[in-house]
Amino acid sequence: MQDRYGHRISYLRVSITDRCNERCTYCMPQELQEWLPREEILTFEETLRLIRIAAELGVSKVRVTGGEPLTRRDVVHFIAQIPTISGIKNLGLSTNGTLLARQITSGKTMATALREAGVQSVNISLDTLDRDVYSRITGRDFHAQVLEGIDAAIAVGFDQIKLNTVLMRGRNENQLIPLIEFAASRNLILRFIEMMPVSTTDVLSENNFMSILEAKRLIESVYGSLIPETEFRTNGPATYYQIPGCKQRIGFIGAMTNLHFCENCNKLRLTCDGKLRPCLGSYLEFDIMKPLRAGASDEELKQFFLDVVDRKPEQHDFRDNYQPNRKMIAIGG
Ligand code: 5AD
Ligand code: SF4
Repeated sequence: MQDRYGHRISYLRVSITDRCNERCTYCMPQELQEWLPREEILTFEETLRLIRIAAELGVSKVRVTGGEPLTRRDVVHFIAQIPTISGIKNLGLSTNGTLLARQITSGKTMATALREAGVQSVNISLDTLDRDVYSRITGRDFHAQVLEGIDAAIAVGFDQIKLNTVLMRGRNENQLIPLIEFAASRNLILRFIEMMPVSTTDVLSENNFMSILEAKRLIESVYGSLIPETEFRTNGPATYYQIPGCKQRIGFIGAMTNLHFCENCNKLRLTCDGKLRPCLGSYLEFDIMKPLRAGASDEELKQFFLDVVDRKPEQHDFRDNYQPNRKMIAIGG
């Protein structure tokens, strides 16, 4: 699948729930939000069918997201079926990490079960090493669980574990160095992400926003010039650097300030309520649940995918005083 700007689509991010056990300010509005009723959420069977169709169109990488994907019942059973779909070579999961260390059956942790189900890479959110700050950012006192979750993930040996830190001025700028040390001590990739306007717009005021350039300067003031790693790429839009003098790799995701951010975009998103979104930072979304439930054939659904890809914008609208319509939690990070 290729769009009119030459973006080749090989990566589908699949959100399986709009629910979460945390309340990160940059992801959800603070007012109590209504969760979607179950019948408005794609069943696992429906989701698997759409993944298979996407795979037939050239998608080779799937990342399962939410909300918090691990809060959905039977998630492991669902995930285990994704690698059996012909054409899917890479399976990732994005999680807040709170449930990774949970024992699910007979002494097995969630992390172990996910590994056995075929998950290759795990992205875990970690914005701070300070428990109080963590509680203030996420609205929950789950810091210890997340640290345990990270260790549980390390213990089962995923191919890749990345930590994701959303940059917040005044909240975690003093955490960047401790987070680097933490990641280095565990040999994990760490990525700093610019906050995007996907919650309520007020979290993204100038007081809160911190650019990747500022983060890089701050880090360089401690370690010296970072060494660009132009060769290293994951499937996403991060640019990677090596910390001089050690093997630690850090990435920067500059959705707001990097003007080339969208150039190599290879993504399509499927929301848990069955909307295909060609871009996180655009209002465009297309309801594929409707034809799916109306009995559309594989061929018709394939054409639906192709039409959505054809509407993929050249770049996101975030810089254009973007007002979110759908919150991050309801799109999938
Ligand atoms: N801006 C940037 N990143 C965000 N995430 C959630 N909301 C935002 C936002 N407004 C991140 C989470 C997680 C990933 C799935 O998306 O921290 O690491
Ligand atoms: Fe939940 Fe992740 Fe959103 Fe935080 S960022 S509220 S952990 S889905």
